[in-house]
Amino acid sequence: MSKRKVQFMETVLRDANQSLIATRLPFDVYEPILDKIDQAGYYSVECWGGATFDVCLRYLNEDPWERLKKLRKKLPNSKLQMLLRGQNILGYKHYPDDVVRKFVEYSVKDGIDIIRIFDALNDITNMKVAIEETNKWGALASGTISYTTSPVHTLENYVKMVKELKEMGVGSICIKDMAGIMGPQEAYDLVSAIKDAVDLPIDLHTHSTTGLAFMTYLKAVEAGVDVIDTAISPFSGGTSQPATETMAYALKQLGYEVTTDDKILKEIADFFKPIRDGYIADGTLMPKSLTTDTQCLTYQVPGGMLSNLLSQLKMMNALDRFDEALVETPKVRKDLGYPPLVTPTSQMVGVQAVQNVLAGERYKNVSKEIVAYCRGEYGKTPAPIDPEVMKKVLGDEKPLEGRYADTLEPMFEKTKAELGDTARNDEDVLSYIAFPQLAEKYFEKRKAAEENKATYTIEEA
Ligand code: CO
Repeated sequence: MSKRKVQFMETVLRDANQSLIATRLPFDVYEPILDKIDQAGYYSVECWGGATFDVCLRYLNEDPWERLKKLRKKLPNSKLQMLLRGQNILGYKHYPDDVVRKFVEYSVKDGIDIIRIFDALNDITNMKVAIEETNKWGALASGTISYTTSPVHTLENYVKMVKELKEMGVGSICIKDMAGIMGPQEAYDLVSAIKDAVDLPIDLHTHSTTGLAFMTYLKAVEAGVDVIDTAISPFSGGTSQPATETMAYALKQLGYEVTTDDKILKEIADFFKPIRDGYIADGTLMPKSLTTDTQCLTYQVPGGMLSNLLSQLKMMNALDRFDEALVETPKVRKDLGYPPLVTPTSQMVGVQAVQNVLAGERYKNVSKEIVAYCRGEYGKTPAPIDPEVMKKVLGDEKPLEGRYADTLEPMFEKTKAELGDTARNDEDVLSYIAFPQLAEKYFEKRKAAEENKATYTIEEA
């Protein structure tokens, strides 16, 4: 019998970088190791999307599209992967369809092979346009489940979602456990159920936050998962992914075929070790991010959300109400139809729980985000919103029926015309639409840098 193959998606350039050091790795720092990464035998290299785009413009003075083109050149044999928040692209607001289409088009044209497409509420109508467009330009659309647990997040409902995603034309399925709360048995059951329902490759994504990840991956592999997301050891563990080398070692021992090359993985690890140590020394990488935090297994609240709750209460001089806020959090989540607790819903639920406790009356104060959520602007909720809460938040206003993006006017051509010469290409227009202030500042700096360089050259001559 031939060995069953398990492959790895390497996250060091995107999720590990984002989870441990707030995405601060500049391209120039990791450029020297790209040829090794290209030969390591990964299924794919996650290197773009998520927060990389924002941070390039905001802190690194890099054009994210130029970064992508350079990655494409330096990784000629690898599949380049990105993370896309469906109709939100890389942010938290909904964009009109023409923008989503252009964004996907240029992502693929500039080098992306696999687009992992998700929606924070698992509303697949928010994923449809991105999936269609990914297929149109010949990349692989990976239809993604944002994993959470609740009475309505049953195996049946996940299987239903996966079948609908297949109908929409996805080429693979990703189970995205952004909080690291999935246990080994849950992974086994979910992967088995999806394998039974559709004939598509499955990728499992989790984080080491709670310490479950290695066990969860192992059981997922037993159930037939095709790809697991890991990070090269110096950038693994804690809020990042399990280590690539460790998983490769264990899976080989268990008789699976593993495609990564141990010698090259070691070279990649040796390269990143001093870089990691540098970030520890300058305080960018906090020891807390590398430890195991089991709190969210007790409270069913993601780790990041607990620290947000604490800092909110501290700001309001109400730390003594922490226990009450903690008890209130799952109640608010239930009222709101069990949204997965991922940005931005995790913040919305947390803030509301604190408000409910401090005001002494539930939903007396609500944020504009909660109003928009109840209006249906974020999409369809997993379960209906509690009617009492709905009435308190919206009054007589009727929530939206259908898809919020359908109410938005096209904006790509209009923005392009407005920008005129400021945008040098369509990618610039997309950067501006996604992050207007950041892009504007970046365009100015880019121009100034070029003018300086020109003067310098003349003087030198
Ligand atoms: Co992640």
